Amino acid sequence: MALADFLKELDALAASATAAFQASSDPSALEAARIEYVGAKQGRLKAVQKNMGQVDPADRPLAGKRLNEVKAEIERAMVMATERLTAGKGAAGPVKPFDPTLPGRPVRLGRLHPITQTIDELIAIMGRLGFSVADGPEIEDEWHNFEALNIPLEHPARDPLDNFYLSVAGRGRTAMLLRSQTSTVQIRVMERTPPPVRIITLGRVYRPDTADATHYPMFHQMEGLLVDRRVTMADLKSVLRMFATSYLGSEVRIRFRPSFFPFTEPSVEVDYHWNDQWIEFGGAGMVDPNVLRAVGYDPEDVTGFAFGLGVERLCMRRHHITDIREFYRNDIRFLHQF
Ligand code: DAH
Repeated sequence: MALADFLKELDALAASATAAFQASSDPSALEAARIEYVGAKQGRLKAVQKNMGQVDPADRPLAGKRLNEVKAEIERAMVMATERLTAGKGAAGPVKPFDPTLPGRPVRLGRLHPITQTIDELIAIMGRLGFSVADGPEIEDEWHNFEALNIPLEHPARDPLDNFYLSVAGRGRTAMLLRSQTSTVQIRVMERTPPPVRIITLGRVYRPDTADATHYPMFHQMEGLLVDRRVTMADLKSVLRMFATSYLGSEVRIRFRPSFFPFTEPSVEVDYHWNDQWIEFGGAGMVDPNVLRAVGYDPEDVTGFAFGLGVERLCMRRHHITDIREFYRNDIRFLHQF
């Protein structure tokens, strides 16, 4: 077979295959064209390819080159027809070419919750004052939440309406509850450590309060406890003043108001003066001798002070947040500001 004839055959095949693919207006026509031209057994491309064996061996390189070009041409026509028929169908729609010059989509980085950030900062400040971090469970027994803290059975703080009691009983059949204060950790630490102790603990506490701008049924406290020989109220006051000026700034002033807590004697409310206002931040006092005795300490030998501050309140002051509920709405527009 002459080279010229073979090339003519190839050209004719390319033209008619391209036309067939261009003309196919639905998937079944496309499939028919595919079988007719590039079908593995009886396809016309195969048939023409077979003729190459009859071409003069000297001309075969040229014939082969043209054959490959025609193959590619037909392939292209088939792909274009396929794309044309699937365009707009399916979720992906038409295939858009990738454009590497478009700006990238920025990755939104997460960050720590403002309360977590506050806790980290409080731990750092108190760490500089020599306090290490202790921990205790959020599900407590009555001994640690009340009894050992000198809160007897008839005390109104134990009212079921003011606490989240659980229906399960703990070991020794004592009632269990979600702790209402972090003072529980004072007891847990002193029970397992001989004096001196110098700890803070930060964590959640629970009270069945109706949520409003200043209340939430769950909030966080920072509790502090220092027990050693010859600890006095002056130590308490200077620690809280150093803490306040570290967290809120050197212009802050501190005031103690006489108060009562079952686990401290004397007891005080701690107020900070800041931005022209006295604001209550929590309670404090000298650890009651009954508490020291409950954990096996000797009140003749050691004394101590304790304090409990609201973490949300501190964070709200610092950042001028006016509604505690903002912390727990999970609104990214609020959280993203910290
Ligand atoms: N536990 C108290 C409360 O939740 C706060 C408190 C007051 C803690 C006096 C103390 C303290 O350690 O000495 O209201």
